[in-house]
Amino acid sequence: MSGEDMEMKHRVSDQQNGSIAAKEPPGVETMQLKKRVGLFSGVALIVGTMIGSGIFVSPKGVLREVGGVGPSLLVWTGCGVISMMGALTYAELGTMITESGGEYAYLFKAFGPIPAFLFQWTNVILLKPSSLSAIALSFAIYVGQPFYPACVVPDAVVKFLAAVCIVLVTALNCISVKVAARIQVFFTAIKVLALGVIIGVGIYSLAIGNTLWLTPDKAFQTGHTITISDVGLAFYQGLWAYDGWNNLNFVTEEIENPVRNLPLAIMISIPLVTLLYVLANVAYFSVMTPSELLASGAVAVTLGNRFLGVMSWVVPFAVVCSTFGACNGSCFAASRLCYTAARKGHMVEILSMIHVKLLTPSPALMFNSFIALIMIIPNDFDAIINYFSFAAWMFYGATCMAHIVMRFTQPDAERPIRTPVIFPALVVIASLYLIVAPIISEPDLWYLYAAIFILAGLLFYFPFVYFRYNPPFMKYITMFLQLLMNVSPPTEAPK
Ligand code: ARG
Repeated sequence: MSGEDMEMKHRVSDQQNGSIAAKEPPGVETMQLKKRVGLFSGVALIVGTMIGSGIFVSPKGVLREVGGVGPSLLVWTGCGVISMMGALTYAELGTMITESGGEYAYLFKAFGPIPAFLFQWTNVILLKPSSLSAIALSFAIYVGQPFYPACVVPDAVVKFLAAVCIVLVTALNCISVKVAARIQVFFTAIKVLALGVIIGVGIYSLAIGNTLWLTPDKAFQTGHTITISDVGLAFYQGLWAYDGWNNLNFVTEEIENPVRNLPLAIMISIPLVTLLYVLANVAYFSVMTPSELLASGAVAVTLGNRFLGVMSWVVPFAVVCSTFGACNGSCFAASRLCYTAARKGHMVEILSMIHVKLLTPSPALMFNSFIALIMIIPNDFDAIINYFSFAAWMFYGATCMAHIVMRFTQPDAERPIRTPVIFPALVVIASLYLIVAPIISEPDLWYLYAAIFILAGLLFYFPFVYFRYNPPFMKYITMFLQLLMNVSPPTEAPK
């Protein structure tokens, strides 16, 4: 069944199952998400989600795995190249399939509903909320630190502040798409500026002669021999900092002139972030030795303390702004995935609705944040992120495969942008490596649990989607929530 057929069927069933149909408020022509994302906010949505907390803390993780300055810089550059190849592949996919939802829409078109369902199930229930809470927790640590100068911030305080951040970002996103987009631009500007300061410090430090660890013979002195799996783990650390390169593809329907702005935003954002990240690393290595970097809890803060004197508060402040902006972008994109999946009947109906006046997908936004709030509770779910990075790369790989497959299965589809097939092919190879290397080097039951979780989606797919079982009480719950939240299905499928 094609995507359109599925959607039609779903809409017809909407009317039968008793949800309240949309009544357009006066002055609103059609009730649907508006095209509010221009080139500028598109760039902000990518750059502002990619730059979160990673670049301020992950350099340590990369260095730990590969043991030397030169290999670290190569890994950071390599992560940028992989992200760029992925994003260019997504530029073709996003202009060919103009539906929101990112990978979900592309997997649906290429491989049908089941892979798409498993993608959205894993992402909506686990990956998107867990990355939102991870970023919110970093935000909380940096906000709390000034109040506890002599010790670590108590756990309860961190969790409370992270929850406040999630609730705030969700509220802003529910109130207005325009406000969310502006906030994204504002915080992106701050974080780019902050990285500029760090890079400036680096340039100054290089200029006064701190170049020891960047000279060829020192740079390639590694503490240990680098194994294949070390490289894989280093890439995971670096790629977390680059994660978010696909964020604009989740909101394609809301981009003004997507055929121009989507690829352009991608081509501006990823090279910009790569440049900033590599230069920031050069700055770190100029200011501290590898062993000092490994001993530091947060590299950027150490750099600030050494070189910025009374202005050293600038760095933690920048991390606060950066993580807040990344939460905003993450929330924005995740809700659109959930919304698109619900529109196709792959999630409960209420999640496909938008607020009748504010025209924001508030149920999807709240659902994503609700799970993120629950995920703040466990103490250390860094592990979850690690094990699930492997799930994330499975889907990136599968989506690049979808690009290649559709060149054969849908050769005549209109493709305003054609990305050379070598790019998705290389990403597929990279993702295979990223999935397999850690499993082979350190087999862990968690990888199995992750795989079981993904497949467990089928337990929901068959009864509720395939056989369309709709428990009778659902329509009352939907109606109740509709009235409570003042939401309604969009009036017409966006073009
Ligand atoms: N790259 C971000 C950081 O360094 C994390 C992005 C998480 N991914 C996402 N799609 N929200 O903090």
